[in-house]
Amino acid sequence: MPDPLSQPREPQRPAKGAPRRKRREYEQHARLDQLAEMGKLAAGLAHELKNPLSTLKLNLQLLEEDLAALPDSTPPKQRSLTRITTLKKEADRLRHTLDDFLRFAGRLELRTSPVPLNRVVEELVDFIHPQAQANKIRVHTALAAENPLCPLDDNLFKQALLNLLLNAIQAMPPECCKDRGAELLVRTLVSKGQAILYVSDTGVGISPEHLPHIFDAYFTTKKGGTGLGLPTTRRIIEEHHGTIAVQSEPNRGTSFRIELPLVVDSTAA
Ligand SMILES: Nc1ncnc2c1ncn2[C@@H]1O[C@H](COP(=O)(O)OP(=O)(O)OP(=O)(O)O)[C@@H](O)[C@H]1O
Ligand SMILES: [Mg+2]
Repeated sequence: MPDPLSQPREPQRPAKGAPRRKRREYEQHARLDQLAEMGKLAAGLAHELKNPLSTLKLNLQLLEEDLAALPDSTPPKQRSLTRITTLKKEADRLRHTLDDFLRFAGRLELRTSPVPLNRVVEELVDFIHPQAQANKIRVHTALAAENPLCPLDDNLFKQALLNLLLNAIQAMPPECCKDRGAELLVRTLVSKGQAILYVSDTGVGISPEHLPHIFDAYFTTKKGGTGLGLPTTRRIIEEHHGTIAVQSEPNRGTSFRIELPLVVDSTAA
């Protein structure tokens, strides 16, 4: 039997009126191909930019040391040092922007093995617990009794889930949910031969204008946000042959639903 994973990725564009599932699969493949292409371009560009950036940073460092060694009475000394600090900060910012982009658009090589989904959830919920507690958020889990086993790249999948949990925490600042309580619920279940994972919060919610854009790269409503959290999460989930969908109501909360394939032969675990 042919291995479905080794089949060429690019499917035919589905005809008008094709089933929704076919169209969604096509869009998903097209998006992953586009990202892979972007990743290749980005790697080249990053290589070109990283070296001059390092040289810039090093020279600024040296200039700073030279200036610092001058007597304090030298007239423009302080002003020049301040300017150098600004330039160094900007060089760092560029470097971070480049690194963020590379993390997002770079190659993802999945190393999957059969992983109990409940275990991953429990580990991450433990991990974010202190942060949730500090924000007076109650965290609940409702885990599938079947303990679903999914083919996962443990680290990458944790990164995807962590982005969702952090977004949920950030969506529940102290003043937001006085009437309804700040609650974060992570739920797993098995339905129609798939594992389903919900991450739901009672936070600020997402406005209908923003909702279509939250998976767009660089879309953010947060000061200091990169807007790469959700696109990265979606990419990781789609690389796992899963899907992610969202429902949200302003001032009520938000719920992300992830569908993941199950390991077919559970004895492989
Ligand atoms: N649980 C949520 N509740 C309310 N809004 C959300 C939630 N999750 C995502 N969003 C919205 O989607 C936007 C994009 O999220 P994403 O995780 O991609 O980036 P970010 O959180 O803004 O930045 P970063 O992940 O780099 O910190 C957020 O700025 C926010 O407006
Ligand atoms: Mg985020």
